[in-house]
Amino acid sequence: MSIKKYTTDGKVQHYTVTEDDINTRLGKIIGDKFVDYRSQWDKVNKFSLITDFPLYIQFDTTQKCNFKCPHCLITDDYNLDKLFSKETISDEGFERIIDEASEHQCPSIALHGTNEPLLDKGLETKIEHLFKRGFIDIMINTNASALTESRIKKLLDSGLTRIRFSIDAATEKTFNKIRVGGNYKKVVKNIEMFVELKEKGGYKLPVTGVSFCKQKANEHEDRAFIEKWKDIVDHISIQRYIPATSDQKYKEFYPTDKVYHEEFNEFRCPQPFQRLVFRNQDITPCCAWYSRELSLGNVNQTTSYQAWNSDLMRSIREIHRKGEWYKNDVCRKCVELNYPASKKFLIQNKLNLEIENV
Ligand SMILES: C[S@@+](CC[C@H](N)C(=O)[O-])C[C@H]1O[C@@H](n2cnc3c(N)ncnc32)[C@H](O)[C@@H]1O
Ligand code: SF4
Repeated sequence: MSIKKYTTDGKVQHYTVTEDDINTRLGKIIGDKFVDYRSQWDKVNKFSLITDFPLYIQFDTTQKCNFKCPHCLITDDYNLDKLFSKETISDEGFERIIDEASEHQCPSIALHGTNEPLLDKGLETKIEHLFKRGFIDIMINTNASALTESRIKKLLDSGLTRIRFSIDAATEKTFNKIRVGGNYKKVVKNIEMFVELKEKGGYKLPVTGVSFCKQKANEHEDRAFIEKWKDIVDHISIQRYIPATSDQKYKEFYPTDKVYHEEFNEFRCPQPFQRLVFRNQDITPCCAWYSRELSLGNVNQTTSYQAWNSDLMRSIREIHRKGEWYKNDVCRKCVELNYPASKKFLIQNKLNLEIENV
């Protein structure tokens, strides 16, 4: 079976097809503009290109979810309150961000983060609008619970390029433990309906995927998950579990995989070279749940261009270009939560005390 590390954030593995396979396919459908953007994306991921404006922006249009997955920050009001600013982005703020990104010909956007995007009833209209404004790679992750035939048809006509359905289980029993509040049969039926309507309508896009956030409660089902979905959707991703905070309760979800607990050599984060992530009104350099601790400014006071070219953003890029993630407290926390074995690496390399905050 083909397995390749998904380069978008280094936290996802792709099964059955590689990310390159998907992008080659998208290049054929969308054309030269897409091929150029992916070529820039590859350079950015190798730290050899810094663009004038991010190639990718990501934000939530609401801060709501109808599930209560225990591993997810959105179910944790206490920590969510500490980590996110209260104010969400207004419609006017959304329009301002889109106007600016569109003027800079930003190619890609995701309307998901820590929420369920389909709870926004205006989501399909927003995607259509983004397509008209020139975005060529538009994506969402969803729990698939709020899909209906009419919403699927609207999504298929909207210009959406990628949709990923999170399921995190291969059986109803495990699903009920992880996707609390969801209905397994309904979710599976909705995804199958999406794929069927896409096929019947002769749509080439969006590319469909299912995802599985591997953790202790489901780690025994990853193979069964791949088997179940491999002939239905375009790709399958097995996602790395990353604790939302260093609270002990989140550490309980780590899978028992050796790779989590023993192996760590080096880390360089490509995200500050790729993207801006809007955490409510904060503009931030990455998708870490606590990325607000590296806030580059408030959407009402700073432009995306200013945030992208700010001294803080430049210095974060510089430490990652050099592989010195341990020099920033927040990056250090991120690596320690992602790769528990990194602590041993710091001690062995006598780097554990050298924190120079940027
Ligand atoms: C945060 S959700 C947002 C979109 C949508 N509600 C969904 O479930 O797909 C996106 C994905 O992140 C995963 N996720 C949630 N908490 C996570 C964590 N602590 N580490 C890694 N992935 C996580 C979910 O399982 C889901 O696959
Ligand atoms: S459905 Fe998605 S956003 Fe909602 S609680 Fe689960 S993982 Fe989090």
